[in-house]
Amino acid sequence: MSRHPVALAVAGLLACAAPAHAQDPGARIINPDGAITVPYQVALAQRTLDGDGNVAVFCGGTVRDAAHVITAAHCLEGETTDAPGEFLVVAGLFQRSDPSVAQVVEVAAITTHPAYRGADTGNDFGILTLAEPLRLTPGAVPFDPPGTVGALAVGAAGGNPVGRALISGWGDVDPDQDNAVQPDPLVGAIVDLNADCSAYGPAFIATTMLCAGRRNLDGTVTDTCQGDSGGPLARINPQQNGVVDLAGIVSFGNGCAQAGFPGIYTRVANPDINARLRQSDPPARAVMLAPPAIDAHDVAVGATLTCNPGRWSSAPVFSALWLRAPLAPNGQPDTSRIEVVSDRPQIVLRPEDEGSLFACEVRATNAGGSLTALSGGIGPVQPARAGGAQPGAGAGTPVAVGADLSVPTSSFTRRSCRRRTCRLTLKVDDLGGVAGTRVRAGAVRVSGCPTGRKGRKCRRPRTLSARDVAPGVFEIVARGLEPARYRFSATAVDAAGNAQARAAVVTLTVRKTKARA
Ligand code: ARG
Repeated sequence: MSRHPVALAVAGLLACAAPAHAQDPGARIINPDGAITVPYQVALAQRTLDGDGNVAVFCGGTVRDAAHVITAAHCLEGETTDAPGEFLVVAGLFQRSDPSVAQVVEVAAITTHPAYRGADTGNDFGILTLAEPLRLTPGAVPFDPPGTVGALAVGAAGGNPVGRALISGWGDVDPDQDNAVQPDPLVGAIVDLNADCSAYGPAFIATTMLCAGRRNLDGTVTDTCQGDSGGPLARINPQQNGVVDLAGIVSFGNGCAQAGFPGIYTRVANPDINARLRQSDPPARAVMLAPPAIDAHDVAVGATLTCNPGRWSSAPVFSALWLRAPLAPNGQPDTSRIEVVSDRPQIVLRPEDEGSLFACEVRATNAGGSLTALSGGIGPVQPARAGGAQPGAGAGTPVAVGADLSVPTSSFTRRSCRRRTCRLTLKVDDLGGVAGTRVRAGAVRVSGCPTGRKGRKCRRPRTLSARDVAPGVFEIVARGLEPARYRFSATAVDAAGNAQARAAVVTLTVRKTKARA
């Protein structure tokens, strides 16, 4: 294995990245060794700065060459129509508060594995083809080609550390699972490769996943966390004290820094994954140009519905799933009772379908990846027409076309409290699209209130407004909070009135601040 030029740049930093214990037990990636510059590291960032005016980093990545960045597939989920324009790649960034030194580039195309179906199923990698090449400077250095890490045995859940690797990112550094705090500078740490992931059981797929982490002497654990995803796990050559190859990509874990549950990384040495990561011209994943729709002459028992996949770039292969929802008393689909009724492109409506609404979910797959989109709903299904299903028969019976059967989901991507203000960012996803989505948000104080009637006012939930800062991204700010714990919740409601089934919830602490001059 040859020594990579990056080694030189990183070697010095490894010297200050402490040995296998945290110098500062309060420093937490979770429990990082310190702030470092990693010239092959990039940030995937939202187009708008966060509430504190810092670059809003949601994932990491590795420069493969001037025109390509390696990241995780799960960082690239959800967006169908505008995925390449949805976020930016920031190279040469060190402090999130100082993007002036960085190069900011647009993404032209996304590539993932056609069989990718979620981080926990493996194949969690993606390649971004940049709209314009990066200027390769000492602060933006390619990690090319991705290594093969030949020495790592495939097939075991680990437990025999076979070397060490450098992790780095702007992800959560707060060991408190309820709190997410992103560091300003890039932080890094050294972890053991092939840590023991046996506690994950069959969820750890040794052929496509790699286990890495570090137990510190003080009993704490060093691990990547939310926001580090897609970033590098770079193997270190102990003789050379430098980075030699890309062993893994930050993928997932059971919480962060939990004893017995090291981080799980995409195994770059897997031959299929390695070959795909090295493709000189990665095929582009399809982009949706027009959404799926249902073609039907009539919506009555006996009629045929056809799932029309819509218009997509890059000629994908389509598969369809038909979803059926009963009509709720308010005339909207009862989205809590959606059933999958068929995986054929066409269905014939049956008597038991009467009164229900239908939608089809299309999966578009090509050599560059696979993703799904949902049609508008159609219905309610009318009784069989006397004399058989005739196009246009039963005129005068209302047919709700365009009902939205998709329920939004949301999660907090960023949450932190400083002084008496908490700021939260909520990311909403909806197969039916996020246009017109509203968010109901609130907070309840869950500590320090007097019990009984006296505390009633203190415990009273307060409503918070959620500001739409980008498509599907909402910012929630709560000011003037007394030091205590607060439970924040948010429910996304889409344009059709479909509400998220289970609210996104997080508990945050507002700490007492010392008065400082
Ligand atoms: N999925 C997380 C992300 O999106 C990465 C989690 C890594 N977890 C861990 N315990 N190593 O950033």
